[in-house]
Amino acid sequence: MSTLESQSSLSQHLLPSTLTPLFRARHSTRAFLPTPIPTPLLEEVLSLAQRSPSNSNTQPWRLHILTGNALSRLSTALFAKAESGAESTVKALPDEYRHYRSELGRKLYGPEGYNVDRVGSVKKSLRNFTFFEAPVGAVVCMDAKLGTPDVLSVGMYLQSIFLLLEERGVASCVSWECKCLSVP
Ligand SMILES: Cc1cc2nc3c(=O)[nH]c(=O)nc-3n(C[C@H](O)[C@H](O)[C@H](O)COP(=O)(O)O)c2cc1C
Repeated sequence: MSTLESQSSLSQHLLPSTLTPLFRARHSTRAFLPTPIPTPLLEEVLSLAQRSPSNSNTQPWRLHILTGNALSRLSTALFAKAESGAESTVKALPDEYRHYRSELGRKLYGPEGYNVDRVGSVKKSLRNFTFFEAPVGAVVCMDAKLGTPDVLSVGMYLQSIFLLLEERGVASCVSWECKCLSVP
């Protein structure tokens, strides 16, 4: 078989029927229905996501899943802190990348986008702090002693979760903003 032929049969063999549409479909969702997510669905997703690659197989992700009262208590605390004018600790992007954030901010929050003072910026993104009213929230943690390869591992784990959720018709969004306000 020629190289070209073997490449084409390899790609036929490897091209999955579902992954490509899932990649196309996944996007950050910032408005959710209150429909509860069945626990077995979440358990299946988490069990599969556990197969994600990780540095030295450390599987450094630790996930806290919140629903019901626990989710409302955390949302209320985060929202109150953000609304009170607490300063976000979102690290400013280097100058040459800042236009990406401004462009996204304009799409999400209107003409002023993120180009407002720090407090205004937090206030504009208040819905981040209520998990965009999603019926399930999750806080992902990693041991602070670990480093960059482990952060990459956590990122891969999250992407696995998002695609597995998408496959099951469940939308998602990351919120780094939430990390940037600490609540007692
Ligand atoms: C590490 C990380 C942090 C993010 N933080 C936020 C956030 O705080 N608030 C938000 O609305 N979206 C957040 N997002 C979503 C991004 O804005 C989004 O992934 C990006 O604009 C591309 O859009 P898409 O996910 O719809 O393809 C974050 C995404 C990542 C990967």
